[in-house]
Amino acid sequence: MLDDRRQKNLQRILEIEERLSEIKDVDVLLENILAFARKIANADAGSIYIYNEKEKKLTIRFGQNDTQQKMLAPGEKLPYLFFTFPASPDSISGYSALSGKVVNIPDVYHMPELLDAGKKEKRPYMFQSSTDKATGYHTTSMLTIPLRMTQGRVLGVLQIINAQDSSGNIIPFDENSEFQILHFASSAGRALEYAYLTNNMVLRMAQMAAFRDPKETGTHVERVSTFSLEIYDRYAMNKRIPKESREKFRDLLKIAAKCHDFGKVGVSDLILKKTSGFTDDERSLIKGHTCLGAQLFTPVESELDEMARNVCLRHHERFDGGVQGYPGRFDYMSVVPEQKMPATIPLKGEEIPLSARIVALADVFDALSHARVYKPAWTIEDAFKEIEKERGRQFDPELVDAFFQIKDRIIAINNVI
Ligand SMILES: [Fe+2]
Ligand SMILES: [Fe+2]
Repeated sequence: MLDDRRQKNLQRILEIEERLSEIKDVDVLLENILAFARKIANADAGSIYIYNEKEKKLTIRFGQNDTQQKMLAPGEKLPYLFFTFPASPDSISGYSALSGKVVNIPDVYHMPELLDAGKKEKRPYMFQSSTDKATGYHTTSMLTIPLRMTQGRVLGVLQIINAQDSSGNIIPFDENSEFQILHFASSAGRALEYAYLTNNMVLRMAQMAAFRDPKETGTHVERVSTFSLEIYDRYAMNKRIPKESREKFRDLLKIAAKCHDFGKVGVSDLILKKTSGFTDDERSLIKGHTCLGAQLFTPVESELDEMARNVCLRHHERFDGGVQGYPGRFDYMSVVPEQKMPATIPLKGEEIPLSARIVALADVFDALSHARVYKPAWTIEDAFKEIEKERGRQFDPELVDAFFQIKDRIIAINNVI
């Protein structure tokens, strides 16, 4: 009987590991690592932390909590987490990150004074009960595991909370689930390492574009990518898009959104660095960045290439097909740097790929709500008003609706990235 259960669990872990290896974006992967680890140990809640070894800091990135989630309206998410603190051994996650050790605590409110009864070493960490106090949640059992790269460097910390038996009673994490999660954490670490490679490469390319165009800062790119993911999540829920295609799309979108202005590397400095109005000729030269960006992802060799190409090429089209949208119907491969774009017939509505319609909205909202060399930042309310005004004109109305449904979350992200 037990063997049968173990066999099933092992099978499930193998399937989960296979799915992990297909995820490309770091944030999407972290979110899934946490969800899968909770599933393996039947844990009610959990968090995941990124460890910055150089600065000895931990950033909490994702929190999941089934009990709290059940109290929210459908489609609503728990608060957006992005909180950095010094990694020190007096917190459980800090101790785990610094020592590389697994910490399995049956009850955080009744921890023994000694770390290990045999060694007589005093326990350095305390349980911080402030989150429990603020939320009314009661943490009992907790399993904290470092996530490592192949060479052993700690990338982050996985913390799962309140293991449950089959009737939903809170129980400690037993040896068996500790063993399974440990095994899972090592493949999660490998998947994470690989995702970081892709992520770092994309961020370096974004940095290259930012060297050319001071408007395109790293944080702009991060925010546009995070907003895009959130808009899509809500839109996908509204449209009842099946979970499997949703997972795939959001993973690709998170990365593709960061590439939207890569084509600016092919636009002259004299134009990009101008701080006042552009002439018609200059405007027409800037438009070429859409086609040049798309060329970077051509020939299309993967689904990510395809989405990144669509985002680059179409993020300045207008939903209503207005003439200010570009590049329109045009052979993007024929464009060379410093070439003026001719007038074309614009694309309209769903002719514009969904990924590009989403990034268009996120990009404009972020550009409005932040200062640029040529303009001060608009207030966040004015930025929202402008998006509302362009509903059905510049932007897809269904995406604008999804955007307004998650207004609080957009503001929260805007405050921390
Ligand atoms: Fe652009
Ligand atoms: Fe942008």
